[in-house]
Amino acid sequence: MPATFPDEKTSPGFSKSRRDVMAERRSKMTHQEIRQNFLAFFKERGHTIVPSSSLLPNDPSVLFTTAGMQQFKPYYTGEADPIKDFGALNTTSIQKSMRTSDIDEVGDERHLTFFEMMGNFSFGGYFKEKAIQFAHEFITKEMGLKIDYITVFEGESGVPADEESEKIWKSIDPKIEVKKFGRADNFWGPTGDQGPCGPTTEIYIDGIEIWNIVFNQYFQHSDKTLEQLKTPGIDTGMGLERLVMVSQNVPTIFETDLFTPLLKPLPLELDSRQRRIISDHLRAAVFLLSDSIAPSNKDQGYVLRRLLRRVLTIEHQLKLSPQVFENVLLSVIENFGAFYPNLVEHKNDIINAYFAESAKFKKTLAQGLKELERIAEIDAPAAFKLYESFGLPFEVVKDIAGEKAKNLTREAFDEEFKKHQEKSRAGSERKFGGHGLLLDTGELKAANEEEVKIVTRLHTATHLLHAALRKVLGADVKQAGSDITAERLRFDFSFPRKLTPEEIKQVEDTVNEAVKQDVIVTKEELSYEDALKTGALSFFKLKYPPKVNVYSVGDFSKELCGGPHVTHSGEIGQFKIKKEEAVSAGVRRIRAVVDPE
Ligand code: SER
Repeated sequence: MPATFPDEKTSPGFSKSRRDVMAERRSKMTHQEIRQNFLAFFKERGHTIVPSSSLLPNDPSVLFTTAGMQQFKPYYTGEADPIKDFGALNTTSIQKSMRTSDIDEVGDERHLTFFEMMGNFSFGGYFKEKAIQFAHEFITKEMGLKIDYITVFEGESGVPADEESEKIWKSIDPKIEVKKFGRADNFWGPTGDQGPCGPTTEIYIDGIEIWNIVFNQYFQHSDKTLEQLKTPGIDTGMGLERLVMVSQNVPTIFETDLFTPLLKPLPLELDSRQRRIISDHLRAAVFLLSDSIAPSNKDQGYVLRRLLRRVLTIEHQLKLSPQVFENVLLSVIENFGAFYPNLVEHKNDIINAYFAESAKFKKTLAQGLKELERIAEIDAPAAFKLYESFGLPFEVVKDIAGEKAKNLTREAFDEEFKKHQEKSRAGSERKFGGHGLLLDTGELKAANEEEVKIVTRLHTATHLLHAALRKVLGADVKQAGSDITAERLRFDFSFPRKLTPEEIKQVEDTVNEAVKQDVIVTKEELSYEDALKTGALSFFKLKYPPKVNVYSVGDFSKELCGGPHVTHSGEIGQFKIKKEEAVSAGVRRIRAVVDPE
């Protein structure tokens, strides 16, 4: 043996020990540490950390928040100003996300409904070169991981190939393997029926896609035409679960520390498919419940109901103690509560909502299962009947009926469901005397003249509340949602902590002062640009009409809005905040009334 030291670059011995060091470093990083490292890495590089938005998006064209970029859509199009809102052109976040298209796949080694998406975003701050450099540095240096290969967009009719990204990758690492794909694989978007989109470059580790880096160069309109964005932007998304999996060097996401504490309370008689379904579905359910979604027969509530009922069916069939799944729910809250404090805040609500749904379902479940056994072949109408009469969701029927439901498809079931919904919608319209709601702007709902009057007062009160919150808490407060019925107003806004009783009082007093002064409410019709120039607050929508209305309540408030409003602030009457609570990390919710009892 020659008496030399091993060559650092070529010796297999050295590279092995270096691998060991990396493996050790990786296996030591918990999911909490990986989250922190990610946010810190981008913060050090000029990004503002923005809290996750709710799983319930503002965009009515999508059911759930499915990607980190969703809350940033207006910043790509120039409709909102990142400097004003974040003090920077770049942001970073870890976004709670739900994708339900894979619900039937959950139970295998890799599919999930709920997941967390880590991302960095830029709205004119930097573009391809920096985005690729950051990603490469984070993966190889911060995480100590080795990239298998990367992919770039190969071009397609009307959209050129992304040669620039390939060049940038090669300049960082001349040996890197580059694969090229078309629109199906390397082009993102848009989320919703229209929005920013563009070619992507993706990073693969251990054979799986880890990070999707999107170059938002276009705006896709609802008729699918592409328009060049004035300022191209960056939108990246890295699934936390996958990163943790390769980093902790385990074969499936269920063996990471995101899931192991959730699986611990489960008894051994459950097979691995059931264990995965239970841990995925209960984890998703906790997050949905914490965003104030309740089990129901429509929209987001219907998804939540299906998740819970599938799990409850397993509990029933295996005669498990209700304590078992309660322990899983508590483990979710404990494992994720440090990063999502609203899970801890809502702990009792979550557990109560779970048991309420359990009690409801148990009334009909045994009977439903008996009926399911009785039917020889289960087609879509039979499956829908099982849902309608006994509350058995499609997944449960599929799980249990086996051969008898082999011809039952989700499409056919959804079709039945839709037919039924249309019928019941017609029914509810009849209930309102054939008129439906008298007023339904999306934000305001009223069934008769009397209710229209109350929601109009609450609406003007909402504008004053928004202005008062900004006055008392600072201009960082931004509207995140508003919903008004004849009973109350509900206003969501960005703010990092609970309000003190003094702050609540100050906000109430500020609104009531404006009411007392009985100032005039005025409406001005302006172009969108001119409206923004007046300093009016705008609750971002993707596309505003060319002319917008700006409503002013004296000097107290100025906002872009479709109305309706009272003519004088005195008409609002006494204003009272009934409740202040968290909706998600960084988002608070106020419920308030006028004419309190
Ligand atoms: N929008 C892209 C995704 O969700 C990148 O963030 O994959």
